[in-house]
Amino acid sequence: MEEPRKPNVVLGVTGSIAAYKAAEITRQLVKADINVLPVMTDAATRFLGPLTLQSLSLNPVTTGLFDEEESWRPTHIALADMADLLLIAPVTANVMAKLAHGLADDVLTAIALATRAPLVLAPAMNVKMWEHPATQANRRLLEERGARLIGPETGFLACGYEGKGRMSPPEVIVERVLQYLKHRG
Ligand SMILES: Cc1cc2nc3c(=O)[nH]c(=O)nc-3n(C[C@H](O)[C@H](O)[C@H](O)COP(=O)(O)O)c2cc1C
Repeated sequence: MEEPRKPNVVLGVTGSIAAYKAAEITRQLVKADINVLPVMTDAATRFLGPLTLQSLSLNPVTTGLFDEEESWRPTHIALADMADLLLIAPVTANVMAKLAHGLADDVLTAIALATRAPLVLAPAMNVKMWEHPATQANRRLLEERGARLIGPETGFLACGYEGKGRMSPPEVIVERVLQYLKHRG
């Protein structure tokens, strides 16, 4: 009998100081037998080296919309079609805004627009960015469209502030992702 294939999680990582936590998320998902396909924004690569996610996921890391593999099929469409779930952790205020408004000017937001996989977001940002009416309006739009948000939590923020904006711990995010995958139709 053929073994069932591993679920594919496209893991988007954006330009937050919390990007380093994506390494732990990757490690824990791989341990749970998930095929993790990392995608990083340009800003994310300033916070975390793609090589780290490549080594932990055992997969290539996609960082650019125009870094095409030797295939007729654009990488962002291939990843969008492969995804059983799109997790963006951490997600910046900027990428939340782009997702809410359907922008697709980088590889991650292009995948988000092209996929029909469930979207799971783990925001991380300064408390004032999180509480800004623009971010809250974007959050509502995304949730109305079915995106699931994990956190953010309240606590000490890397920017020196205390308040809501801290990304949920990797183990919380991984547990929720595994639940969503289990209950997917
Ligand atoms: C040190 C530093 C930390 C940052 N942390 C965050 C953050 O946690 N959340 C956020 O929304 N933006 C943060 N930013 C701002 C983003 O990096 C910036 O908006 C960037 O354009 C995001 O690009 P991306 O959304 O394409 O990844 C930070 C910037 C710097 C310089």
